[in-house]
Amino acid sequence: MAYDVVVIGGGPGGYVCAIKAAQLGLKTAVVEKRSTYGGTCVNVGCIPSKALLHASEMYSEASHGFEALGFTTGKPRLDLAGMMAHKKQTVDQNTKGLEFLFKKNKIDGLRGIGKILGKGKVAVTGEDGKVQEIETKNIVIATGSDVAGIPGVEVEFDEKVIVSSTGALELGKVPGHLIVVGGGVIGLELGSVWARLGAKVTVVEFLDTILAGMDGEVAKQFQRMLAKQGMDFKLGAKVTGVEKAKKCARITFEPVKGGDAQRLEADVVLVATGRRPFTDGLGCEEAGVELDERGRVKTDGHFRTSVEGIYAIGDVIVGPMLAHKGEDEGVAVAEILAGQAGHVNYDVIPSVVYTSPEVASVGKTEEELKKAGVDYAAGKFPFSANGRARAMLKSDGFVKVLADKKTDRVLGVHIVGFGAGELIHEAAVLMEFGGSSEDLARTCHAHPTMSETVKEAAMATFFKPIHM
Ligand code: NAI
Repeated sequence: MAYDVVVIGGGPGGYVCAIKAAQLGLKTAVVEKRSTYGGTCVNVGCIPSKALLHASEMYSEASHGFEALGFTTGKPRLDLAGMMAHKKQTVDQNTKGLEFLFKKNKIDGLRGIGKILGKGKVAVTGEDGKVQEIETKNIVIATGSDVAGIPGVEVEFDEKVIVSSTGALELGKVPGHLIVVGGGVIGLELGSVWARLGAKVTVVEFLDTILAGMDGEVAKQFQRMLAKQGMDFKLGAKVTGVEKAKKCARITFEPVKGGDAQRLEADVVLVATGRRPFTDGLGCEEAGVELDERGRVKTDGHFRTSVEGIYAIGDVIVGPMLAHKGEDEGVAVAEILAGQAGHVNYDVIPSVVYTSPEVASVGKTEEELKKAGVDYAAGKFPFSANGRARAMLKSDGFVKVLADKKTDRVLGVHIVGFGAGELIHEAAVLMEFGGSSEDLARTCHAHPTMSETVKEAAMATFFKPIHM
């Protein structure tokens, strides 16, 4: 039986694409090698990490945070196995939810490894080695990404002592010392989980900033906040070796500005130096699907690859490796296949680091605007001047709104502080509609809310905030 569309990969890009395609009346199948749908995000990424982030935040609050609110509890006792059970339950609920959505939308799930045999033909190799050939009008590649490791450095992940993000979600006990190689999103999120649970955490980062690509002022303030929480940073340090020692792991790093190589030992080393597009065994070359110089599937502005009828979305193509970017691309491709005008606005893709506090941004950073020679106005408002934030003892952080000086159109918003990951969406909606900072500032915001910080920062771009 021929399908209208076969999606290879059941992660956030692939499963969302499949659901949308089925909703639009297309006969749809998803090929997935894992026993559960949801890809890296649901199984070993976004979702389990959020369970541990939340649980460890609650643990940390209960350990230090309640006296100032006027009550005390006993010292909390960590039950790591219980925390892991919460994480597992969260993942299970999500994967079961996806099974339900597949059934509801009459999507065929094909378990196994998908390989493109050519236009309109996919082979699925099951666990038993049996190969099934599927015919389809269209193929969508949504195979995502995998751990990249450190370029030029051999790293043997045993997922116990030398771990990737997957192993860092599964540690059997809190390490005494955890080294995190890479001060990007994964390193900081998972590093902060184990720091809160009691590990000494040292982040070793090649660049002279953490969260490269984020607004520089936000990244600096954020690093200060993490340092205050006890995290150690070695910036401008290039890791050149990661190896297992007797009972621990050891890294070697060289100061980027020159100087002697240094060694550092820890109970566990988390290597979080990026991810690479995953196309292994997909048969791209044989099928004529071109890859770019970084191994990503080449696509045009409409997600078409070099072979007619074969599309690609998500981490495996150009753009930020973010679940929600893949999801939106999945929707767009499904709409295109159904004859509609699917489209993704890459100028308004929010980005959130789910640490405590959170960091969130949408649109351009100050650095990018300066580089592009854009005349902009910046408005800032600190959480410390917001009544709700003070009442909740969450007054560390600020909002920055960047608007075009001439037109007042909002070009970027950057937030570090409690709830940043939710607050950012009012900026995203505004920017999607091409709104100005005055539009934002004149929109009535409920009082007292944290959202007022966004309104006041918007006010500050063209005049003065009220509460400062
Ligand atoms: P990343 O690219 O965000 O950060 C990796 C860091 O490692 C960079 O700062 C880089 O300079 C550093 N690095 C590379 N080689 C090094 C070396 N030899 N020595 C020291 N430092 C070195 O990668 P990460 O954190 O692994 O995340 C992978 C992808 O997953 C990213 O695209 C990220 O956006 C995405 N992700 C997003 C999340 C979110 O949105 N909350 C959560 C987790 C992952």
